[in-house]
Amino acid sequence: MAKGAIDLEQSQMHMIDDMIEKLDIQDGDNILDFGCGWGCVPNYIMSKFPNVRFTGLNLSHEQCEYIRRRMQEPESYLGSGRFTLVEGDLNEAQFDEKFDKILSVGVFCHVGNLTNSFKKLASFLEPGGKFFLHIITVRTPNNISSVYTHKYIFPHGRYWNFDAVPSHNKDLKTIQRWYLNGINYSTTFANWLKNFDDSYDYVKDLEYGIDFAKFRRIWRFYLIWFVSNFASCDGEINGNGQFLLVHA
Ligand SMILES: C[S@@+](CC[C@H](N)C(=O)[O-])C[C@H]1O[C@@H](n2cnc3c(N)ncnc32)[C@H](O)[C@@H]1O
Repeated sequence: MAKGAIDLEQSQMHMIDDMIEKLDIQDGDNILDFGCGWGCVPNYIMSKFPNVRFTGLNLSHEQCEYIRRRMQEPESYLGSGRFTLVEGDLNEAQFDEKFDKILSVGVFCHVGNLTNSFKKLASFLEPGGKFFLHIITVRTPNNISSVYTHKYIFPHGRYWNFDAVPSHNKDLKTIQRWYLNGINYSTTFANWLKNFDDSYDYVKDLEYGIDFAKFRRIWRFYLIWFVSNFASCDGEINGNGQFLLVHA
């Protein structure tokens, strides 16, 4: 959660405003959001820039179905005619156009091969284009994966060491990077935990594919663990990393 924000929603807007500045988004840019989730980043950025166009790439069918519904809503910027949704995997994706900017938030923890992914993304980027990457990162000597999060939360998830991205310079190279102290993310997890607990009456009836009591134990353990994980060592070891990359 960013400094000074009163709640998660405001914090999220501050973070996207910061991303707009770091990626130097200009009105009229054609932007690719790799791993666009529920579409909130494109929606917010299009609300600020009337001529920005976005393509969202996402392999989650459920998230794409949700976005398709939002694309029918006139009050949503996803329904403005400036947003294109591509349901599919980066590894198979092809585009007829190139993008001025590419952004990717919280996706590379699911990416197993930085070299191949950067090669693919570089092939989508205009010659003078820029790529902004936001990930969980660690400042321990090695990349970290966890058996618990692999089994229950993010299959094959991994936390790249802060130096892993800049050490890959084959198709894209890092020109600037930022380490965001983990205390911010710890506060985000504490808020997610509070929201989950406060919404008990609502969340208990949702569909999880497993018994709710079991899901609740798994989910709360993950949230509580990560509150402390990102707060440890004053947030200097586990945090978030942001990287600005251009063609190598
Ligand atoms: C943790 S979510 C982040 C979502 C969004 N960027 C945000 O910040 O709210 C990771 C997203 O990446 C997508 N994703 C992961 N691997 C992908 C791949 N190989 N190709 C396309 N999308 C992928 C997932 O479907 C999901 O939407």
